[in-house]
Amino acid sequence: MKLLFVCIGNICRSPIAEGVMKKLCEDKGLKWEIDSAGTSGYHQGEAPHIDSIRVCKENGIDISEQKSRPLKRTDFTHYDFIFTLADDVHKSVLDYKPELTSAEITLFLDALYPGENKSVKDPWYGTSSDYEDVYEQIYTCCEAILSRLTEY
Ligand code: 4NP
Repeated sequence: MKLLFVCIGNICRSPIAEGVMKKLCEDKGLKWEIDSAGTSGYHQGEAPHIDSIRVCKENGIDISEQKSRPLKRTDFTHYDFIFTLADDVHKSVLDYKPELTSAEITLFLDALYPGENKSVKDPWYGTSSDYEDVYEQIYTCCEAILSRLTEY
């Protein structure tokens, strides 16, 4: 199984989702391919935001080696699932989607709140403590996604 998490900058939200999902898969002995990307290339090559690194580290997950990269067209055929962290990201991803797409594109929080069109709040515009809430929400949602995908 190949999963891709997408936000805007690929420095705050999706790196946490990548780190958490990798850890959950590792704990279950699943050798899945997990990655993250941004709809923008503003932060290409940069490490995750210092507070994303911090909250993950506080929870035993090291994401400091991750590097931001923009979403690319080949992602749409390479990955089985593309999870968009927010509504605006979802729209950008659908706009960018090539005709040849095999990935299932879903709003990340639909796994917890189906049909409610919920977004993970962008901590980039918040404070350092917002990252704790974002981490908790992402962790709970990754667990829900993983249990759904391993039911089959
Ligand atoms: P992210 O947060 O999408 O969770 O990585 C953002 C980071 C940077 C910007 C926007 C959102 N930016 O505009 O630079």
